[in-house]
Amino acid sequence: MDIVASVKNASKQYKTGDTLITALQSTSFDFRRNELTLIIGPSGSGKTTLLSLLGCVIFPTAGEVFIADKLINGLNQKELADVRLKNIGFVFQSFNLLAPLNALENVMQPLILMGIPKSEAKKRSEDALIKVGMEDRMKNLPKILSGGQQQRVAIARALVTEPSLMLCDEPTAALDIKSVSVVMEELKMLSTTGKSVAVVTHDLRLKSYADRIIYVNDGVASETAPEDAHFH
Ligand SMILES: Nc1ncnc2c1ncn2[C@@H]1O[C@H](COP(=O)(O)OP(=O)(O)O)[C@@H](O)[C@H]1O
Ligand SMILES: [Mg+2]
Repeated sequence: MDIVASVKNASKQYKTGDTLITALQSTSFDFRRNELTLIIGPSGSGKTTLLSLLGCVIFPTAGEVFIADKLINGLNQKELADVRLKNIGFVFQSFNLLAPLNALENVMQPLILMGIPKSEAKKRSEDALIKVGMEDRMKNLPKILSGGQQQRVAIARALVTEPSLMLCDEPTAALDIKSVSVVMEELKMLSTTGKSVAVVTHDLRLKSYADRIIYVNDGVASETAPEDAHFH
């Protein structure tokens, strides 16, 4: 199976008081293995909404979301959590590492949650940290690592469960330009190892890393760039 996730005519509206906000209009896309998809658009355009639908963090108002052929609509919270843990790795702008834990312990967390024995969790986490070039930093606490290094630890934590889908929300937004390329090279490398990687950004410079681009503008997602000056 090449397709690891799909949205089919999926849309999302939020109700705040009397007003209805359409965060994302009806959207259909497949996400395939060995593909890095860049989801690009200005602030407030609906990028995180699309990523959250794929990540089973929110339900669509209409339409369907499939992860590994499984229809997500209608699953309960426990089933959703299980789908996320087994299929999806998340990377955020703010790294979200646990401050009292060192790099290795942070990477081990999802495996411990899955009930993997500690010795095996440790071995797999070491391998994941080696993959992102952080083998010398395993015992370091997040606070002594640079932003780029923290993000590589966060990537190791996302990939240690061997997810088929990696969802990254503005993963380079808090990084200096040199770390941006290191982190994007890591994500690009992962997309060649059978994973589908989706990266949300407002940074047009990241286009060169993309196998394909989804443009999001005012709640409309499309593979064709809008006329809007932001995209050119
Ligand atoms: N939980 C929410 N409740 C109400 N409105 C929301 C919520 N989340 C997002 N929105 C609105 O939906 C639109 C798209 O938001 P979002 O997907 O976060 O955009 P982006 O990630 O591109 O900046 C924005 O207008 C935002 O204010
Ligand atoms: Mg966002």
